[in-house]
Amino acid sequence: MSKLHVIDHPLITHKLSIMRNKKTGSKDFRELLNEIAMLMGYELTRDLPLEPVTIETPITKMQAEMISGKKIAIVPILRAGLGMVDGLQSLVPVAKVGHIGMYRDPETHKPVEYYCKLPADIEQRLVILVDPMLATGGSAADALTKLKEHGCTHIRFMCLVAAPEGVKKVQEEHPDVDIYTAALDERLNDHAYIVPGLGDAGDRIFGTL
Ligand code: PRP
Ligand code: URA
Repeated sequence: MSKLHVIDHPLITHKLSIMRNKKTGSKDFRELLNEIAMLMGYELTRDLPLEPVTIETPITKMQAEMISGKKIAIVPILRAGLGMVDGLQSLVPVAKVGHIGMYRDPETHKPVEYYCKLPADIEQRLVILVDPMLATGGSAADALTKLKEHGCTHIRFMCLVAAPEGVKKVQEEHPDVDIYTAALDERLNDHAYIVPGLGDAGDRIFGTL
């Protein structure tokens, strides 16, 4: 079973509370989302393996340590996932970025894919799939299936707010993928929006309310 990591560091929780407030405008919302993505990225990458390398400081030679092994790809689910890319890339500037475009059908709430462009060597990378909202879990589960169809074997999913329904779906369909979230909310409403949530993340990021 995949693990659910709730990254509830006080700085993250504080910033998320500002984002939840309906009075917070797009500019602040975007800035806070990127700040949280960076802080969560710090936790998500905590167990990356290090390897010894010999370097020379101005004083002497030393055996230092640097990150080894798999390279990283960041894959946002469009649109709202775009809001987390800059924050993560500031931590891992050499990461490549793929894109999966999906929107939820307003009637069925099921995801509809409209775009997919991934780095050619994505199967060799640790993939961080990002989307601020994990509601029914349909979008994340389908995006994870897509990544696996492209050969990805080492994937982590990072969101901002998760509903129990979405966590259950992703864990059932992708037991190999750990989920990192800043908050686990109560439930979904009749329109499959997260309660209390923060509304429509894409609209709040891009000002399309
Ligand atoms: C939102 C959100 C997720 C999806 C989550 O996107 O960014 O991708 O809904 O819902 P789910 O877990 O029930 O699939 P939306 O479809 O509103 O598209 P947008 O990002 O383009 O606004
Ligand atoms: N998508 C959002 O942007 N917000 C929700 O609460 C659910 C899906």
